Amino acid sequence: MDALENIKSRRSVNYFDPSQEISDEDIKKILELSALTPSSLNLQPWEIIAVKSSDKKKILRKCAMDQAKVEEASVVFIVIADINACERNIDSVLKSWVELGYMDVKTAVFYKTLPQKLYGEFSSQKRKIFAVKNASFFAMTLMYAARTLGYETHPMDGFDEDAVKKEFGISEEKTIPVLIAVGKLSPSAKLLPRAWRKSVKDFSKIV
Ligand SMILES: Cc1cc2nc3c(=O)[nH]c(=O)nc-3n(C[C@H](O)[C@H](O)[C@H](O)COP(=O)(O)O)c2cc1C
Repeated sequence: MDALENIKSRRSVNYFDPSQEISDEDIKKILELSALTPSSLNLQPWEIIAVKSSDKKKILRKCAMDQAKVEEASVVFIVIADINACERNIDSVLKSWVELGYMDVKTAVFYKTLPQKLYGEFSSQKRKIFAVKNASFFAMTLMYAARTLGYETHPMDGFDEDAVKKEFGISEEKTIPVLIAVGKLSPSAKLLPRAWRKSVKDFSKIV
């Protein structure tokens, strides 16, 4: 599927075919493509739990306002924004940049101070925004990646974040911006036409 077609035909699919399974290989392919998402300072503050087994999907459905698509989709990705990424990943980022010739060691020493300068201390609002912003870019790539492999998708923020954290062992300081259901469209589903969109002139200006 070409990129234009992918953007134009993507819809939030409410009815997945519950008989369709997804292989671990396809999950891996989707995540490998999603890992190419750009991120602030290349810090990649995301983690994913791919919920595929029926018992875990049942649990997730309970945390997600009983939305049937959580159980009917082949897999639901819990997208996690990780505020620890600044400390955890900065050395790997800088090592790769120095090795690949993006910068010299002296510049890398300066760059090491940037995450805290830009994204604040561990528990700051800035840090949370940084992590959620980048994890959301990841989520969008994941939806388009899944579609290139023949799947449909549905993003969801209708869920109890604390309940999802508790059930899936996600630590308190992390945020879950979105769940993404992925699967095949149910053969009996009929998609309604795409709903209202703001016109370009209503949300933009060229200056
Ligand atoms: C971050 C986000 C959260 C959403 N949460 C839900 C949800 O919990 N349940 C639901 O039925 N739809 C949810 N949606 C789907 C939107 O309602 C849908 O994207 C919108 O109506 C436009 O439809 P389209 O995606 O088919 O173009 C969500 C979409 C986004 C981007």
